[in-house]
Amino acid sequence: MTNPSAQAKPQLTQDELKTLVGQAALRFVVPGEIIGVGSGSTVNKFIEALADMKDQIKGVVSASEASTARLRAIGIPVFDANAVEELAVYIDGADEIDQHGNMIKGGGAALTREKIVAAQSRRFVCIVDESKLVQTLGTYPVPVEVIPMAVQRLIRAFAAMGGQARVRLQTGGTGQPLVTDNGQLLLDVSGLRISDPRAFEAQVSQWPGVVTVGVFAFQKAQVCLLAAPGGVRTLNF
Ligand code: 5RP
Repeated sequence: MTNPSAQAKPQLTQDELKTLVGQAALRFVVPGEIIGVGSGSTVNKFIEALADMKDQIKGVVSASEASTARLRAIGIPVFDANAVEELAVYIDGADEIDQHGNMIKGGGAALTREKIVAAQSRRFVCIVDESKLVQTLGTYPVPVEVIPMAVQRLIRAFAAMGGQARVRLQTGGTGQPLVTDNGQLLLDVSGLRISDPRAFEAQVSQWPGVVTVGVFAFQKAQVCLLAAPGGVRTLNF
C-alpha cells in the first residue's frame, strides 16, 4: 500500500512560482514611502499582492504604461519620476540574473524606464523564478532600445562582436516593428556570451543610436528573491 505522505508533491507551475515570489517581495516594501515598480508577468503578481498593502505606501513610480494601468486600477497613486528624488526600493523581474546580481532585462520592452527607476532607487530587489538564474549572461537575447535611423548600423556593430541582432516585431503576426513606450525600436541580440557585464554595458551604451542596453550591471540587483519548488530563497549581492 502506498503511504500518502511519501507521494511526490505536485510540481509548482512557473505561474505559481511567480505568485510566490511576488508575495515574498512585500517584505521589502517600506511603509510610508514611494516605491519603484518594474514591469512584466512576475511584477504583475507583485502588484496583485501589493493591493493588500496599498494604504501603507504613499504611492509608486512605475516603469511602464502597462504597470501604471494595473497600479491605477487597484487605486495606487503613480508619481512621475521627476516629482520624486530618491526611492527606497525598486522591485522588478529579470530575464536572466547571474550570481553577482547582474541582469538581462527588457523582455517586456520596458528596459529604458526600468533602468531610470532602478538608478533612482537605493536598493534593487529582483524577483524571479529559478529558471532565470544563470552562470553567464547571454543565453537570453539582449534587448537594446535604439533610435530607428541607427538600426542597420547597430545590427552591423553587433555582428562584428559575434551577435545576431533582429528588430523586435509586434506580437500577433502583423510583421510591424514593436514601438516602445518611448517611441523607439528594439533589437534583440542573440549569440553573445557576456563574461564582463559592466564592460559590455559601458561599451554598447556609448554607441550612437543606442538608447538603452538591456544589461543591468551598473544598476544591478542588491537582492534577488528566487522562487523554487522548495520555497523562496534570498540572495544578497
Ligand atoms: C520587462 C522586463 C521584465 O522584468 C523581464 O522581461 C521579466 O519578465 P517576466 O516577469 O514576465 O518573466 O525586463 O522589460
